[in-house]
Amino acid sequence: MKILVTGGLGYIGSHTCVELIKSNYDVIIVDDLSNSKEKVLDRLEQITGKRPKLYKYDLKDKSKIEEIFKENKIDAVIHFAGFKAVGESVQNPMKYYNNNLVSTINLLEVMKKYNVKNIVFSSSATIYGNVGIPKYTEEMGRGKTSNPYGTTKSMIEQILEDIYNSDNSWSISILRYFNPVGAHESGLIGEEPNGIPNNLMPYIMKVAVGELEVLNVYGNDYETEDGTGVRDYIHVVDVAEGHIKALEKLEKENNGLYIYNLGSGKGVSVLELIHTFEKVNNIKVNYKIAPRRPGDLAIYFADPSKAKRELNWETKRSVEEICRDSWNFIKNNSERKSK
Ligand code: WQD
Repeated sequence: MKILVTGGLGYIGSHTCVELIKSNYDVIIVDDLSNSKEKVLDRLEQITGKRPKLYKYDLKDKSKIEEIFKENKIDAVIHFAGFKAVGESVQNPMKYYNNNLVSTINLLEVMKKYNVKNIVFSSSATIYGNVGIPKYTEEMGRGKTSNPYGTTKSMIEQILEDIYNSDNSWSISILRYFNPVGAHESGLIGEEPNGIPNNLMPYIMKVAVGELEVLNVYGNDYETEDGTGVRDYIHVVDVAEGHIKALEKLEKENNGLYIYNLGSGKGVSVLELIHTFEKVNNIKVNYKIAPRRPGDLAIYFADPSKAKRELNWETKRSVEEICRDSWNFIKNNSERKSK
């Protein structure tokens, strides 16, 4: 089976490529390198012994997607490619609507033309909006998103649903990630966001390794056990394995539209994550309490029971393993040697 992985050199994409190769899929990557590095291809080869074919193309150029489908008999697509910085999307919404939507529409039109109707889509828990209760189930459906990035994910889910309703021969799996963190145990691939990280774990990593001075804990006055925000942190390899299970389901079922939460089902607070990181790695993380970040919710985490029931998938890796693997990655890949 030949799988086209868009954004395959990115954080979740690269970890999924490792699992695909381990599961004997033939992997082709298309990535415009806007938020990834070509050296990841070498790392994939180091980990798996296989070097996926890479097309360094922007999906906004439909003729380039056509070229890939002309040159390769693609059986299914896993679609990760897209901008994903929440803050940047608020500052520059048109960059996000143009890139994330045009890329996806181009991809789906070319897939239809070449009669490739199997797709796994990288969605996000952010599409639920402010639900008001902490545990999210798929049946809650899409809510009012709080930023253009989340809105593009919600819109793409709607596009996929409309395509399926118009043509039931499609096989579509929508995976809603909670908070993917961690890194492959080899320390060869992991999260390397461009510039100053928005998300908590990459920020902790940069402070721990001495690249950044101090971590701002955004608020300690939430209605949570220790007052800091609570989220469902899921090891990126668990997320990657969820994609293999979703692909297998599409192969088995022949067609259908499936939506799954990918989360651990457990909530962890900011301070808990910091202290676990410090304990597991025997290192100090310098932090200070700062004002709340606008738009942040106090607490949410997944109800992952549907993925367990229908995909026989659940998280296997603990928060301790997440912290160990994250530190192992950053200390091997930081511009600065760890202190
Ligand atoms: C987690 C917790 C912050 C940074 C976002 C996107 C979501 C998904 C995952 C793509 C919160 C606190 C954070 C910091 C902090 N991305 N925090 N100091 O906001 O849950 O979700 O990333 O799909 O779409 O919305 O993740 O890591 O930014 O924040 O205290 O420097 O850490 O307040 O409680 P979030 P996050």
